[in-house]
Amino acid sequence: MVSKRNTIALIEGPNLNLIELRPNIYQSPKKLEEIIILIKNDFDVIYFQSNVEGEIINFLQKEMNNISGIIINPAAFTHYSIAIADCLEMINIPKAEVHLTNIYKRDREKSVTAKYVDIIISGAGNYGYYLASQYIKSKC
Ligand code: DQA
Repeated sequence: MVSKRNTIALIEGPNLNLIELRPNIYQSPKKLEEIIILIKNDFDVIYFQSNVEGEIINFLQKEMNNISGIIINPAAFTHYSIAIADCLEMINIPKAEVHLTNIYKRDREKSVTAKYVDIIISGAGNYGYYLASQYIKSKC
């Protein structure tokens, strides 16, 4: 019997489409594509990146009933988007917030979205997305 694979959404916020332009801050031993291949051992993955707050909310609302977990790096929206926080609050599936860098080392401690996710992984580079997927796997 072929069992149905669970799907997770991996969402990245503004400017993370161009992190290669800031290698001094965002160097990571593994590329995002390599991490997604790893996650695909356990899940189907929908990857979504946007620089637009409302597009992230529209994506979450559209997909929330089709996915088993959320991995989100809201990037700068982490620090002020009550709208994304409200959207995350509405969605009752395992949710992980990931930051490539350790936001506590960057004087960017405040996350308004953190309250509405189960876990936060901050500072593990792209590998944090894999760690988040393993958390979600433990909950599925
Ligand atoms: C980030 C940290 C945020 O403070 C910053 O605005 C980003 C990336 C990270 O992954 O480390 O854009 O979310």
